[in-house]
Amino acid sequence: MKQEFGPDFVWGTASAAYQIEGAVDIDGRGPSIWDTFCRQKGKIKTGETGDVACDFYNRYETDLLLNKELGFNAFRFSLSWSRILPDGTGPSQGGTINEAGLAFYDRVIDKCLALGMTPWVTLYHWDLPQALEAKGGWTNRLVIGWFTEFVDICTKAFGHKVKHWIVLNEPLVYTALGYFAGWHAPGRRGFWNFLPAVHHTALAQAEGGRMVRQNVPDAQIGTTFSCSPVDAFTSSARDQGAAMRVDALMNRLFVEPALGLGYPMETLPFLEKIKKYTQSGDREKLAFDFDFIGLQHYFRAVVEGSFFAPYIWAAEVTPNRRQVPLITEMGWEVYPESMYRIIRQFAQYDGVKKIIISESGAAFYDSLYNGEVYDAQRIKYHQEYLANVLRAKQEGAPVEGYFVWTFLDNFEWAEGYRPRFGLVYVNYRNQQRIVKASGRWFQQMLTEVALV
Ligand code: NOJ
Repeated sequence: MKQEFGPDFVWGTASAAYQIEGAVDIDGRGPSIWDTFCRQKGKIKTGETGDVACDFYNRYETDLLLNKELGFNAFRFSLSWSRILPDGTGPSQGGTINEAGLAFYDRVIDKCLALGMTPWVTLYHWDLPQALEAKGGWTNRLVIGWFTEFVDICTKAFGHKVKHWIVLNEPLVYTALGYFAGWHAPGRRGFWNFLPAVHHTALAQAEGGRMVRQNVPDAQIGTTFSCSPVDAFTSSARDQGAAMRVDALMNRLFVEPALGLGYPMETLPFLEKIKKYTQSGDREKLAFDFDFIGLQHYFRAVVEGSFFAPYIWAAEVTPNRRQVPLITEMGWEVYPESMYRIIRQFAQYDGVKKIIISESGAAFYDSLYNGEVYDAQRIKYHQEYLANVLRAKQEGAPVEGYFVWTFLDNFEWAEGYRPRFGLVYVNYRNQQRIVKASGRWFQQMLTEVALV
């Protein structure tokens, strides 16, 4: 299979700081919103925290070696903002840089390079410093400056050896779940938190990109989106309208401003209210010419007109109700063709030059049996989703990489440690790593020597 993707295709695994590192109060790291959120009763379904997680902070060398042994030529990880700037701000605002934090990532980067794996670094994967949330977090316009100074520091420190930068991870997820629904940190709710968080995030996405470009002119710069093709449950006008609105929210809200197209207000009139937070010149500032767009794709969405507001909003028709053949532990439908469709959808934009699948994967009920995990469903998931990446590529879509979510089982945010997405099983009692059958499948596929 590997050969069909061509010699330059990027094969990686993806991770995020809070989900794997642990060591939350070691070497000067400051608290992030996730440290605070996990300590609030009832927020994490299992009552767990990322305090220890996979202990990647101490085990990164052997973990990276294993990632390499499985055949991957890239490793995606994020920088914990509060490990580098414990109170969130940089020297220009009176904050101090934690050299020990920078040193940790320097070691991780060097280890990747020594192993021949390209580091792909995410600048923001949801763990805002708690000190900044106390000042309003993403609802405060000052966050744009706080973030760009953080980006400035990171790219000056690592830009000479890191050439692949991802500005944001899934902006819709952290603004919607963190500032509208309250299910993720910082647990805020409502429209009037969501809208400013969206606007400041969209501006930070572009400003962050510009800062990377300034400090690392030869970098490949991207940002990532959670995305799903959206189907109407029936062909009724009511359900079709619902599908259009959900598509605008899930797939267009953050990419279109970056492409200079503004927010999709015609489809989502409520976005007009963002004007309350805009300043003159913002529309231009929202645009940035990204080198690649990262798509994080797991499932398709099927929706209908909402029972409460059928022509204004939409409701999900759950996979259970649709009785689909395979549902993951997250409740997500396995529907491989949606990978093909979402790549095609994003490839249609003129400004999208290159697509990287920056995450895809599945959580299933893995069990250890005689010291092994036989996760046949996960193998099938990746085989079929990859086949659809290939199909889009062969038809001309500029898709040039695939990052498995994820290498190690890890802390799945509000779900705790129960859903296991990894190619490698983690025994959280003793931090033992056990390569699952899916990890072996990738290893074989990626390291096999062509016989011709
Ligand atoms: C999206 C996020 O980027 C990642 O942090 C999360 O664990 C996976 N998808 C799975 O939900």
